[in-house]
Amino acid sequence: MRRYSRITGTGSYLPPRRLTNADMVGLLAERGIETSDDWIVARTGIRARHYADDGVNASDLALQASLQALEAAGRKASDIDLIIVATSTPDMVFPSTASILQRKLTEVAVAQGDLGAAGGAAFDVMAVCSGFIYALTVADAMIQSGAATRALVVGAEIFSRILDFNDRTTCVLFGDGAGAVVLEATEHDGSGPGVLASDIHADGRHTGILCVPGTVSGGQVLGDPLLKMDGQAVFKLAVGLLESAAKAALAKAGKTEADVDWLVPHQANLRIIQSTARKLKLSMDKVIVTVDQHGNTSAASIPLALDEGVRSGRLQPGQTAMLEGVGGGFTWGAVLLRL
Ligand code: UT7
Repeated sequence: MRRYSRITGTGSYLPPRRLTNADMVGLLAERGIETSDDWIVARTGIRARHYADDGVNASDLALQASLQALEAAGRKASDIDLIIVATSTPDMVFPSTASILQRKLTEVAVAQGDLGAAGGAAFDVMAVCSGFIYALTVADAMIQSGAATRALVVGAEIFSRILDFNDRTTCVLFGDGAGAVVLEATEHDGSGPGVLASDIHADGRHTGILCVPGTVSGGQVLGDPLLKMDGQAVFKLAVGLLESAAKAALAKAGKTEADVDWLVPHQANLRIIQSTARKLKLSMDKVIVTVDQHGNTSAASIPLALDEGVRSGRLQPGQTAMLEGVGGGFTWGAVLLRL
């Protein structure tokens, strides 16, 4: 018998403003830039993405996803003693989006006559598109060690704010959204639900191929505050790294590809997802795909896909899911869990 962390509820939220590829064609045409639905679908699989309205922040998306996850888990905010938000588009420089989310959860709880989540630990994790994998790994380690009992692990992003709409090679790819899970301590002999293994890495030599190089200094934004990506370099690295992380997580858990019921990958590009599935010998009907409707929502994409898989009835208790992501840093990782 040992202590595991298991997912007891999932939730997600997409801001209502939905932009199809046809909308992007129109938006870019206003700037004299050409793109097409054919190009975007053929190269990425993306058909639509969601953008948050002005004044809506990552914590607002995170709040909606978290409330859904808490409801699905049958838990209240006061049951949570750890909040980790994975984001690269925080509400502000500080405090953390997790602290702001904790305040908002508490406000909702108090309005309903309950206690809130105040007093538990709350912090952000920034590992860009691998952020949720990192956050889940940290929360799992804290639960296993006894440092936490019940965690809310969230990925929330508003990438529309850091897109360069004069750069067609990046602006059509990303969208906004949030996903959340409630992760709780449980004890069993290894045959029950929970995180079975995780594997996270970074290679800082590749910081330049996917970055937002600007910073805030002396009351001003210094440098370029918009996203820059060398898409081909990222693509080439991503496929190999995802395979190695997934295989490392399987090896740590003493499992093989044949034990994986579902792949819940980071949703950046359908071609990357297909290639990873092939390497794990999984057919595409064992892969949760949301990139067509969400675009790339960075740290939010995996929990959004997870929630989609659960709510559509495809992911079932007892099944094994491989979650994996790759992104700026360069960062990458995988989490193998039993639902
Ligand atoms: O979440 C973090 C991880 N991020 C990723 O995984 C992204 C990884 N990279 C990719 O997904 C792909 O590299 C992209 C989708 C970004 C680009 O696809 P690609 O097949 O690598 O295209 P490319 O960059 O080689 O560009 C091919 C052509 C170029 O034209 P020329 O030079 O061949 O004349 C581009 O200018 O496509 C052109 N192009 C576009 N055309 C229409 C680039 N963007 C667009 C566009 N619409 N939006």
